[in-house]
Amino acid sequence: MREEKLGILCSGRGSNLASIIEAVERGDIPAEIAVVIADKADAYALERAREKGIPAVPVIYRDYAERADFERALLKELQAHRVTLVVLAGFMRILSPIFVHAYTGRILNIHPALLPSFPGVKVSGCTVHFVDEGMDSGPIIMQAAVPVLEGDTEETLAARVLEQEHRIFPASIKLYVEDRLRTDGRKVHIL
Ligand code: GAR
Repeated sequence: MREEKLGILCSGRGSNLASIIEAVERGDIPAEIAVVIADKADAYALERAREKGIPAVPVIYRDYAERADFERALLKELQAHRVTLVVLAGFMRILSPIFVHAYTGRILNIHPALLPSFPGVKVSGCTVHFVDEGMDSGPIIMQAAVPVLEGDTEETLAARVLEQEHRIFPASIKLYVEDRLRTDGRKVHIL
């Protein structure tokens, strides 16, 4: 078991954040949430964190002249809270190699699609993966599939996917914290 301190990055409502907080509170994820950071001051995720007494810090993208300055500010906050695992829970910014290098193999993302995905697919789902320098290209930890039903709207499908996100993201973080993930090239083995 590792002594992990999670730093959770969000941009909006934070429903994935809520599912992770619940899993930590239940004792399912044996780790501490050290800080929640949002790139928007009005992100509801910050409020959810504050309600739980978790440090909640806005790091506002447009306050910085360049992306590199924004990322340095993010890293400074994460390091100030001694974060060991970065969790992207609905964080809507692409992170450059500068950021990724600082936490190589220690950044997890949830993506609301089965990766790689194509238009017109008959199943949808979500993917938890390690973040590398590419776009949604890191080794996949877990996926869940849901059917695309006749008459689905974007909203009904997204809600079906989100339910699965709230299941597989905490489960993946648990596996990481329990040191049960082994990356072998582009494959992740679960011990
Ligand atoms: C989630 O559906 C997540 O998969 C997606 O944003 C939503 C955030 O919802 N993430 C991405 O699109 C990342 N590229 P939440 O704030 O309620 O967790």
